[in-house]
Amino acid sequence: MAEKNTELMEKIVSLCKRRGFVFPGSEIYGGLAGTFDYGHYGALLSHNIKDLWWKHFVKSREDMFAVTTPTLMPEAVWKASGHLSGFTDPLVECTKCHHRFRADQLAEENRANKKCPDCGSGLGEEKVFNLMLPVGLGSIQGQNNTAYLRGEIAQGMFVNFKNTIDTLHPDLPFGLAQIGRAYRNEIAPRDFLFRVREFDLMEFEYFIREKDWEQYFEMWRKEMWSWVEKVGINKDMVHELEVAPEDRAHYSKRTIDFEFDYPFGRKELYGLAYRTDYDLKKHSASSGQDLSYFDEEAKERFTPHVIEPTFGHGRTFLAVLLSAYREDTLGGETRVYLALKPQIAPVKVAVFPLLKNKPELVTRAREVYQALKKEFSDVIFDDNGNIGKRYRRQDEIGTPFCVTVDFDTVEKDAGVTIRDRDTGEQKRMALEELIPYIQNHLK
Ligand code: GAP
Repeated sequence: MAEKNTELMEKIVSLCKRRGFVFPGSEIYGGLAGTFDYGHYGALLSHNIKDLWWKHFVKSREDMFAVTTPTLMPEAVWKASGHLSGFTDPLVECTKCHHRFRADQLAEENRANKKCPDCGSGLGEEKVFNLMLPVGLGSIQGQNNTAYLRGEIAQGMFVNFKNTIDTLHPDLPFGLAQIGRAYRNEIAPRDFLFRVREFDLMEFEYFIREKDWEQYFEMWRKEMWSWVEKVGINKDMVHELEVAPEDRAHYSKRTIDFEFDYPFGRKELYGLAYRTDYDLKKHSASSGQDLSYFDEEAKERFTPHVIEPTFGHGRTFLAVLLSAYREDTLGGETRVYLALKPQIAPVKVAVFPLLKNKPELVTRAREVYQALKKEFSDVIFDDNGNIGKRYRRQDEIGTPFCVTVDFDTVEKDAGVTIRDRDTGEQKRMALEELIPYIQNHLK
């Protein structure tokens, strides 16, 4: 079983590289651990996931507002939020090979015997290792102001609570949402996109009255499941874990992790936390600014509490790929395809002329391509190699539809063929029917 799973992970990593989804970061210099570059199709898939998330949680709701805040924030923010003292992992280092490990991720035996998993020598004492990445700002050497690359994007929402109240005057409950980069100095980045040092988060802070916290925690728990389904993550591979008090982040009074069955084990995908009024109170005390809310109806002033659903983007990307990866036999040949939801597929339609060297086919196929491109934008034209190879290429990047212009199209005005990625079935369709047919599958 373990072997098979390692094999699946290798297949995903290899497909990502082969088809231009994901590469090791700065690869021509040997790579930088914990960083990845997204190539063309990876970047398109990544944007499509973010767009879908934004539409689902922000644009389609009345109670959600947007912010975009810097990845650099001053030391004062992280002191107040508790990240400089509490955002830590236990570190152990081998006394001989000096490899570093997260103590809580060592095999029981290695941790108990203090034995290095790489060279078998002794491990040093456990130390507390802070994950925040400091940056020296300022132009005069020795006079730097320390700022930090944000370890979580949530603080951007908390420090903008007052701006939001003062400019939009929202009624509770309301949310502040953001998609953006976070940075963590992970001791042991690993498992492809799962544990990296720089990644995107999709997240919102939902401000509520304290008495309502259980109701909204439950509401967002359900909404997170609807997102899992919407983005195309296999629900059967997702499991809730009630996080024990001793394992919760320093700001949380209740946390549920949404775990996913990755090939390397069941681990966190998303988190849902009840952050209470911890952050607003800390920032209020530290900045001296009033971060309370005045309830016009009840005529009372109080600090709102917060429910926080958080969605790691790289882990979503990985879970989507793992959920969509398929191998089957079609027309007597084995093939690999990604059964991505059409809404997030990097390419929605690929248009082919049956033969590259027949100008009448190419001209007509170009016209069809232009018409579809205007409508769907994620459309490509491909006349490279035989038609079977073109289908395989599109299957591997998860293109739901391939449209072919053949001799019947130009000689008999018989429409085009449209091929379904998952079944491989082809049907002939008049050009007028093509756009509504595809539109229907993108809803
Ligand atoms: N604001 C809350 C927060 O940041 P978190 O559980 O520390 O919570 C949020 O992180 C999400 O970010 C996780 O649920 C996971 O999806 C993702 N994540 C955390 N660390 C990561 C890492 N090193 N690499 C990739 N994704 C990570």
